[in-house]
Amino acid sequence: MRAIRLNEYGSVDKLKLENIPRPEPKDKEILIKVHAAGINPVDWKIIEGKASDKFPIKLPITPGWDLAGVIEEVGKSVKSFRAGDEVFCKPDLDRDGAYAEFIVVPEHIVSYKPTNISFTDAASVPLAGLTAWQGLFQYGNLKKGEKVLIHAASGGVGSLAVQFAKSKGAYVIGTCSTDNVSFVNKLGADEVIDYTKQNFEDDLKEIDLVFDTIGGETQQKSLLVLKEGGRLISIVGAQFEQEAKAKNIRLEAFMSKPNKSQLDEIAALIQDGSVIPAVSGVYSLEETAQALRESANGHVRGKLVLRVF
Ligand SMILES: NC(=O)c1ccc[n+]([C@@H]2O[C@H](COP(=O)([O-])OP(=O)(O)OC[C@H]3O[C@@H](n4cnc5c(N)ncnc54)[C@H](OP(=O)(O)O)[C@@H]3O)[C@@H](O)[C@H]2O)c1
Repeated sequence: MRAIRLNEYGSVDKLKLENIPRPEPKDKEILIKVHAAGINPVDWKIIEGKASDKFPIKLPITPGWDLAGVIEEVGKSVKSFRAGDEVFCKPDLDRDGAYAEFIVVPEHIVSYKPTNISFTDAASVPLAGLTAWQGLFQYGNLKKGEKVLIHAASGGVGSLAVQFAKSKGAYVIGTCSTDNVSFVNKLGADEVIDYTKQNFEDDLKEIDLVFDTIGGETQQKSLLVLKEGGRLISIVGAQFEQEAKAKNIRLEAFMSKPNKSQLDEIAALIQDGSVIPAVSGVYSLEETAQALRESANGHVRGKLVLRVF
């Protein structure tokens, strides 16, 4: 099968499209024909060797940890799926990913793909969606009626976070640049702050939860807008713990994990039309490096996806 291979850390231009043996599923595993694979910043961070301390990965490896496809074959003990099922999932980072024609994943991370969206749209959801879900609800404990500030609301994680938070009845404020203001409004945000024109810390106060996708100065300034006892949940690391403690703010960072029941809930929201994935670019396997370079520029609207079949 054709697969993009990372043989050594470095530039995305070092990735190679190779022919490698098709993997075989063990008893509790599923072989999926990948129709589309989502692009995420973690992909180029790993490829460039910037994340080797966080993710102990053995090379060579196939990158890409987000996919939608059709089940080709199931292992002997797999009970809940069969060949032909349309599925999506976020595989673990320590094994071969989805920039390939086929992938093997454990049964317990796989969910049925919503039937009302394409494979391309579905592949954009699992990693960013689980990150948004876990940040808002599992770690952030977001409740109906609470005010949440979502940074980079136009990005992969943010564009889903805005829609999830709205679907649970929160009041949502998102940040992005001028070009993305109307996009974030259309996602359902109650307020959008254009960070090129406005300092969010001047205009906001008494926020219950900040969802930090940026870090640095943005994280530090976010402490100023939270109410006493508020929560600051980061997906890029906790940097200002002392300041947070002094203000009685819970600052916590986390790495998202595969979670079937959460992905099932996300799929249900997509199926009933409450959440619509936003894909702004579709590339072929041959164009993987180009897609990764665009992601690394840091201004993708929604998601980029590789179309494999
Ligand atoms: N911990 C985890 O498990 C986890 C999981 C997923 C992602 N992450 C990390 O979280 C970060 C975000 O991921 P992502 O997939 O959402 O990235 P992304 O899709 O590449 O984010 C791009 C978006 O960020 C916006 N943006 C850039 N600078 C901004 C700023 N200063 N203020 C507000 N918005 C800004 C851009 O909007 P404009 O073009 O309008 O500026 C663009 O729409 C990445 O560093 C990623 O590695 C962590």
